[in-house]
Amino acid sequence: MRNLMGVAALLCAAVLTACSGGDGGADTAAAGEGAITVGFSQVGAESEWRTANTRSVREALAAPEFDLRFSDAQQKQENQIKALRSFIAQGVDVIAFSPVVETGWDTVLREAKAAGIPVVLTDRAVNVSDESLYATLVGSDFVEEGRRAARWLVEDSEGEAGPIRIVELQGTVGSAPANDRMRGFKEVIDADARFQIVRSQSGDFTRARGKEVMEAFLRAEGRNIDVLFAHNDDMAIGAIQAIEEAGLKPGTDIRIVSIDGVRGAFEAMKAGKLNATVECNPLLGPQLAQLVRDVHAGREVPKRVMVEEGVFTQDQAEAELPNRKY
Ligand code: AHR
Repeated sequence: MRNLMGVAALLCAAVLTACSGGDGGADTAAAGEGAITVGFSQVGAESEWRTANTRSVREALAAPEFDLRFSDAQQKQENQIKALRSFIAQGVDVIAFSPVVETGWDTVLREAKAAGIPVVLTDRAVNVSDESLYATLVGSDFVEEGRRAARWLVEDSEGEAGPIRIVELQGTVGSAPANDRMRGFKEVIDADARFQIVRSQSGDFTRARGKEVMEAFLRAEGRNIDVLFAHNDDMAIGAIQAIEEAGLKPGTDIRIVSIDGVRGAFEAMKAGKLNATVECNPLLGPQLAQLVRDVHAGREVPKRVMVEEGVFTQDQAEAELPNRKY
């Protein structure tokens, strides 16, 4: 029986390696004696934010204290479920993951619970019937980020007559940041009749899709777009290219507000092409590592751990750029 389980674990490890993308692969080489084994399933490598997040997680969950098994899901929930099952079969001490979408996790999380493996969520939330299926979630308040983007827009539109026509580039369909940012943004602009969201579509958090969807918005709406709200900076940067190719001035003809606060956004603000970015901090590694230590030691942890964040505008971009860590 033990042999059979060993073979199953090896097979699962092979599946896990196959799931790993450019950033993937197991970091098992130099783990010390008694290291905490952590299976980490990352969303993918869809944005500048995600690259910084992966770097932060890898640095914080490093050997010799940790034995990190890292898997890149390439933005697919089925890959994450496979990776989680592989971690369970390997008998890791703790599972951590950033869920691509909110729903569909109950079964696999029940399997982790039955195996006695605590689960730490990082960055994105899940929607499960039983909250005890995970120990804690460390990440941003995405609803508040949406509200902050909208508040910036309301302030920037002071004294302007309506209608103010907005197009929205949403994140990955069904993901917590897409659902919550949309909710927070709408909550604020719905209180002011001048604002109208005239088009809304997912750009999957990538530059390439952001550009494509913006091209489609421009084809459909022509010059009747006043504002772009992008759920992340990468899609905004892709859209900036589409706007320029359409012969318009991003940041002037179309005002743009997005979320993340990555270096690329600060460069775009400095160039006058992006108006504001709402910070979403990807450097969660150290907080995640502490939570992993705590749950592994059986210490009580808060169910929700928040991250402090701000809002930046064009006039702050040049001074702030050298301080940006991602
Ligand atoms: O979950 C965080 C979001 O995911 C970031 O805003 C985005 O850039 C990333 O892809």
